[in-house]
Amino acid sequence: MKILVVGSGGREHALCWAIAKSPKCAKLYAAPGNAGIADIAECVDINAHDISGIVKFATSTKIDFVVIGPEDALVAGLVDKLNAVGIKAFGPSAKAAQLEGSKAFMKDILAKYDIPTAAYETFNEPDVAKEYIRRQSSRLVVKANGLAAGKGVILCHNKNEAYAAIDHIMIERAFGEAGDAVLIEEFMVGEEVSFFALVDGEHAIPMAAAQDHKAVHDGGIGANTGGMGAYSPTPAVTQKLQQHIMDNIITPTIKGLVAEGCPYKGVLFCGLMITDEGPKVLEYNVRFGDPECQVLMARIQSDVLEALLACAEGKLDDINIKWSTETALLVVMATNGYPGHYGKGSVIKGLDQAAAIENLTVFHAGTKTKANTIVANGGRVLGVTALGKTVKEAHEKAYEGVQAIDWPDGFFRSDIGWRAIK
Ligand code: AMP
Ligand code: GLY
Repeated sequence: MKILVVGSGGREHALCWAIAKSPKCAKLYAAPGNAGIADIAECVDINAHDISGIVKFATSTKIDFVVIGPEDALVAGLVDKLNAVGIKAFGPSAKAAQLEGSKAFMKDILAKYDIPTAAYETFNEPDVAKEYIRRQSSRLVVKANGLAAGKGVILCHNKNEAYAAIDHIMIERAFGEAGDAVLIEEFMVGEEVSFFALVDGEHAIPMAAAQDHKAVHDGGIGANTGGMGAYSPTPAVTQKLQQHIMDNIITPTIKGLVAEGCPYKGVLFCGLMITDEGPKVLEYNVRFGDPECQVLMARIQSDVLEALLACAEGKLDDINIKWSTETALLVVMATNGYPGHYGKGSVIKGLDQAAAIENLTVFHAGTKTKANTIVANGGRVLGVTALGKTVKEAHEKAYEGVQAIDWPDGFFRSDIGWRAIK
């Protein structure tokens, strides 16, 4: 088969790396890809946002299956457009992708089908939102309704912060149209996990859980990022809890979406808070997490392409995914300044030395090749990923890889996996 992977991050490098191992994969393309992906796939210079460009390329190149990484392409309807010209794709339709594209849509589904989540209200008017805040007694979370590149969520410690959040989103329009409406939520306390299931419209099978590290600095301090490291599996999700999540959260969501006339296909990424009252949904994403995808791909022992294809074809019942019992742990190396302002073009050395370490893979995110060297080309740049018998062993090996990389312009967190190691 001819496969096209859409995207350019570490997630897409890991997807390409796993798909390339499948005997079914005869030729692999990536749009636009990155310097690491270029080693295993033919990169074509089409941006992931360029929906018509991707459809045109997939048609003219006779691509059999398109695997889509980022949410914006899904929300914009890339799967619908590919299906309309007879090309299979991995991911939900635009309608089902509203699960991530609109927090109000997601929360309405959760409420209607009785799926545990934080209590919430939606507001279109800043004054009405503030009046509601005035009446609340506990801590609140204020969220822009639309897609805001992961930044539209403001955790408020008191009412003044909540009023300011309303002004920031609805008056100053910090996230543009995404702030036409806001959600005000109950502040949940607990351990946060990323749970992944594959879905073929009717059926869902669990993949695995992972834990991300969102804050930029050690100890969870500093600004939120796309994720500075991850590991899987996590002791926070036992076999029993996984079954509970499937029965009480994933399956009712899938059934609900069928009843709403927008059956879900693809990977369902459920952000969960494990509270004292059990797991509650923080958010749904309609794609793999980044960097969670990389640790999942490092652990999968089955044919990933077959599993992704089964989602698109409605044949997930035939699939049984085998996982390594080892822990995969990933450390992100990012450009100094990320998630704020950062430069591009600094030279990265030592990648071959790191790759020579057993059971270690360096996934590229924001990299490109310039005059035969690899240079940084983004905020999150590398994901150094190791397998180990325990979280501690995987942690030690991953940092051995980080030490082998010579990149003065980069930084990393030194505590990835701390919760599980502690
Ligand atoms: P979201 O994009 O909705 O997942 O929110 C980003 C981050 O904000 C989450 O990963 C949580 O760490 C935090 N968060 C969001 N909603 C809540 C909530 N209701 N209670 C506590 N923390 C939250
Ligand atoms: N790492 C979290 C995400 O991909 O949204």
